[in-house]
Amino acid sequence: MTDDLLALKTETDAALAAAGDLRAWDAVRVAVLGRNGSLTGLLKELGKVAPEERRARGAALNDLKEALTAAIDARRASLEEAALEARLAGERMDVTLPPRLSPAGLVHPISRTMEEMAALFGAMGFAIAEGPDIEDDWRNFGALNIPAHHPARQDMDTFYVPGLDADGRQRVLRTHTSPVQVRTMLNQEPPIRVIVPGRTYRADHDATHSPMFHQVEGLVIDRGITLGHLKGCLIDFLRAFFGIDTLPVRFRSSYFPFTEPSMEVDIGWNRKTGELGGGGDWLEILGSGMVHPKVLANCGIDPREWQGFAFGMGIERVTMLKHGIPDLRPFYESDIRWLRHYGFSALAPAMLHEGV
Ligand code: PHE
Repeated sequence: MTDDLLALKTETDAALAAAGDLRAWDAVRVAVLGRNGSLTGLLKELGKVAPEERRARGAALNDLKEALTAAIDARRASLEEAALEARLAGERMDVTLPPRLSPAGLVHPISRTMEEMAALFGAMGFAIAEGPDIEDDWRNFGALNIPAHHPARQDMDTFYVPGLDADGRQRVLRTHTSPVQVRTMLNQEPPIRVIVPGRTYRADHDATHSPMFHQVEGLVIDRGITLGHLKGCLIDFLRAFFGIDTLPVRFRSSYFPFTEPSMEVDIGWNRKTGELGGGGDWLEILGSGMVHPKVLANCGIDPREWQGFAFGMGIERVTMLKHGIPDLRPFYESDIRWLRHYGFSALAPAMLHEGV
């Protein structure tokens, strides 16, 4: 390489090294390889070189062009990498920092119970189903084998919503989560295994009743389902939920229009002390039964092929019992002192391996 070419190489290397960012780098590139660049100029002048020198000069220029192009590309790559490194360093966050715990953000006991139920029934293979708060009287009553003038409709102190729905059915605020049984059976093929946590409404208001409250429904439909499955499922659930391995559980014959046979479920407790477990007294905790064949048929399921069980329980009730909460009303009053006392940390979600 002749001196002038060597000088250009040295000069360009120095300029590239001095280029601290992509903008400066581009200026160097243009100054060398651009239309008016120094190397481009030398190439243009090749025609003026004496014929006997032209070949050697041309080869040298080509070598230089290759070397400069490689150096320019390499500098670009290293500048881009440095820019990425700088960005990563600037955007770093420390995942080992402790969380900022604030008493302002706690999980309401009702939400906590729903999460615990999702964890417990989830482990038994149940999915979660939901339905609307405003139902129609067919899903809330009719399909569940509660005919028009059945006393159960009065028992439930229904809130009627003015006007009919698109199908000409009377709208109601659902009095229980059972209409979601109907929705689920109409919408999916058996086997079915769902729980339905949600809001429910009855025109009732005193220390132990609220016009809006929460229930969780359970529905299992499969082949060959028996009362034994119902009992095993609910005994397991109740013992795990209350954290008492030996919790006495009693099934007592009862009546619901949508189950046959029907059973009320009681747990053992001590009426005087309120303590759950022993004590010799019984406390009614939920309703259950084998899904009535008429309900299956109303929902398009052949009762000769499929059987199932269902249950329903009040979320507030089991929450009060589990945590010793004496009054129902503060559940809905948003009193920050009550919420701080009974709320749960959002950072310790209900998980089975820790027990719920
Ligand atoms: N829906 C009933 C109630 O609200 C509870 C229940 C659900 C009973 C499912 C049996 C089966 O009282």
